Amino acid sequence: MKATQVRPTGVERTFADDEIIVTKTDLRGVITYANDVFLRISALTEDEAVGKPHSVIRHPDMPRAVFKLLWDTLKDGRELFAYVVNLASDGAHYWVLAHVTPSFDGTGRMVGFHSNRRRPDPAAVAAASEFYARLRAEERRHSSSPAALEASWQMMRQALAERGQTYEEYVWELTNGIRA
Ligand SMILES: Cc1cc2nc3c(=O)[nH]c(=O)nc-3n(C[C@H](O)[C@H](O)[C@H](O)COP(=O)(O)O)c2cc1C
Repeated sequence: MKATQVRPTGVERTFADDEIIVTKTDLRGVITYANDVFLRISALTEDEAVGKPHSVIRHPDMPRAVFKLLWDTLKDGRELFAYVVNLASDGAHYWVLAHVTPSFDGTGRMVGFHSNRRRPDPAAVAAASEFYARLRAEERRHSSSPAALEASWQMMRQALAERGQTYEEYVWELTNGIRA
């Protein structure tokens, strides 16, 4: 079953500090490789993951604005660190600190993407979760997807501008535990 059709149970799943959740995708975000940790935490078999769009584990609490930033950054050939909550196929959710990078071939052509995810600090999750909830609430005020994205994009930009930070700087502040 596709995880996007799964109803979240509210059960949080965690993983060990020394584990890394790894996937690789093609340029469209279709999964081409998933490690055993990804499969176990997402409650997916390899067949249910490889060949599927990465949105197979999209959680409804994730703001569209964060995925826009992810794709804008990757298509620009740059890496991004991001806090992400994912939905496993059994309805459990898990938070990660993801490091997503473009992959290049020998001629410098972008050929796909790679994501390594580590277990985040609970205090960082609490802060990101509160920020994302505000963005999601803004999205829900709009009936069309483009309007919802535009509204949460502007809200994210404004919230970061008020902090005088880029998203990446915000992520590092949470990661280092120095919160305002
Ligand atoms: C390498 C890579 C890793 C990704 N990892 C995730 C992930 O863990 N969870 C997720 O929801 N989306 C992930 N995405 C983003 C998805 O491709 C997609 O943009 C997102 O799930 C939103 O889907 P939607 O636009 O259909 O709502 C990843 C994309 C790439 C390129």
